[in-house]
Amino acid sequence: MKKLHHVLSARQFDRKTLDFLCALTTRVREAHRTREGALRLKALLPHKLAMLYFTQPSSRTRVSFEAACKMLGMDTILVDDPKVSSEAKGESKLDSIRTFSSYVDMIIMRSPESGLADNSAQHLDQTPRPIPIINAGSSMDEHPTQALLDIYTFERSFKGIGGIDGKTIVMVGDLKRGRTVRSLAIMLTNYPGVRFIFVAPPAFRIKSDILDFLREKGFPYSETEDFNGAVVVADAVYMTRVQDEHDEEGGDSSKVDVSCFWFRQDHLRIMKPQGIVTHPGPRREELDPITDNDPHSKYWRGMRNGMWMRTAVVLSMLWTQSNPLTIFD
Ligand code: NCD
Repeated sequence: MKKLHHVLSARQFDRKTLDFLCALTTRVREAHRTREGALRLKALLPHKLAMLYFTQPSSRTRVSFEAACKMLGMDTILVDDPKVSSEAKGESKLDSIRTFSSYVDMIIMRSPESGLADNSAQHLDQTPRPIPIINAGSSMDEHPTQALLDIYTFERSFKGIGGIDGKTIVMVGDLKRGRTVRSLAIMLTNYPGVRFIFVAPPAFRIKSDILDFLREKGFPYSETEDFNGAVVVADAVYMTRVQDEHDEEGGDSSKVDVSCFWFRQDHLRIMKPQGIVTHPGPRREELDPITDNDPHSKYWRGMRNGMWMRTAVVLSMLWTQSNPLTIFD
């Protein structure tokens, strides 16, 4: 298995790496249960410093990355307002990133700008301090660490029923602009036999590059507006909100009626007994809070899994002494 230097796209991950990261996530989660284990984790990377460069709103991703770093004993620096950095004095983004790279050991980056994480990684790789970059959400393109935590949540949920292989995954909502859906669909092609059902109104259909990718990889998919029909056959229903922050001038997504794609209590009754419903958050009306404590609902667990998975990702990237799995032997 190749060590990950940067995490930029779901396309980087093969099955071996995913299995390794899921195993490491479980080891971290279990270690943290005891005081002794938690202190052991804290002693792993106290000499490392991460920058959280988040110039786009975030609750879950930012806080879970910060918690992950701190769990490993690391310190963090937050930059969330480019107006108070030298970008406001006309410095280019790449100069800013190179400046930051002089002071920290890793940059975890969320940006409304498409490709900034990739460009930063490429740029730093040509400097004497090629520190790792993690893409924590880039424009409408990708959100690879959300896909990793979703994979982990699926793995845990489907443990007794053959894992993710062969499962039917239903993705619902604004599939056109939702980056979590894009990264997750790409990552799921590491699991043979997975079928995809995309449920969205015509205005929010998933983009053709993802469908082309699935076709190339030989994965069956269908697109439908029959939400109930999809819920009945689903092993996982992945709900998403309307991404209206990406509305273009004149395009108003509030005019698109998505209410027939809202997950309600009744849907729990028509699901497979071991089917699950999940959501990357933040949710709006598309997922009724009344379903929160039902055994089918895995989104709160998914949120906590995010912290464990991000701890595993950061550890695997910064730990150089041995296979990180052996830390816990
Ligand atoms: C998602 C994102 O930022 O893309 N949120 C998250 O990281 N859990 C989904 C969203 O904002 O709808």
